[in-house]
Amino acid sequence: MTDLVVRRLLVDMEKPIPRHWCAGDAFRTALFDALSMSFPVGEQFFIDSVRNGFKALPADRQDEFRAEVQGFVGQEATHRRLHSLYNAHLEKLGLVNDWEPRARKRLQPLEGQHVLHWLGITAANEHFTAIFADFMLHNADLLGDRDPRLKTLWLWHSAEESEHKSTAFDLYQALGGNHEWRVKWMRRVTVFFLTDTLMQTVRNLRRDGTLWKWSTWKSAGSFLFGKRGLVRLTYQPWKEYFRHDFHPNQQDSAASVRWLQENSHQFTPVGQRDAVPA
Ligand SMILES: [Fe+2]
Ligand SMILES: [Fe+2]
Repeated sequence: MTDLVVRRLLVDMEKPIPRHWCAGDAFRTALFDALSMSFPVGEQFFIDSVRNGFKALPADRQDEFRAEVQGFVGQEATHRRLHSLYNAHLEKLGLVNDWEPRARKRLQPLEGQHVLHWLGITAANEHFTAIFADFMLHNADLLGDRDPRLKTLWLWHSAEESEHKSTAFDLYQALGGNHEWRVKWMRRVTVFFLTDTLMQTVRNLRRDGTLWKWSTWKSAGSFLFGKRGLVRLTYQPWKEYFRHDFHPNQQDSAASVRWLQENSHQFTPVGQRDAVPA
């Protein structure tokens, strides 16, 4: 079990966000903004999955998971809140969030479905966020220094994603989830996640007026496929998920531990209330 601390981030999200806050780079800004747009709806789904998964556990196994589930819910709820404030600034910049309504519609048929499906989807998404988080923590300079608030927000979020990467997975296993459905959901989540990210990034760039600039495409090429490109560095860890003996904790969390130690002045730990029934 992982000891999950809920932290209040000491950043001021009242101030507006500069248009190209990510090192003046239109592509990276549009991509990060797209991901931020997906979090309020996505993280609510993860919270609901984990809460319902916890409730479905036999009574004698709940104690084993209680603290971790509380930590998970507290962390994701805090992420949602800050990304909602972030997204409100993006709206003022003229960006339109298409991802959220599409995701809501897609999640509707899951209402009433077995909790293992919810957890399978959540565990797959959490694997995506964990490998992306590790990439960010190792390549923090790519966030630039134009808006130190957002740099801190992305790295704090990354550090916590890495911390709680096994919660949904462990609940899925504890409830008897099988390998076949786990990887089936990962394949589907991969298609949806990549398509949604691409569509929203393009939409953001179009609104920003930078979609057809050479510098945008050059940045996309290097950020995704360059020497330390996102696709190049995350492909292998993504593939690991398909192994029968995979567990999220097999993947390194040292960068997350290090960031949290070195940046303790950026947050205060807070208690968790009412996340799951006592
Ligand atoms: Fe999160
Ligand atoms: Fe998460």
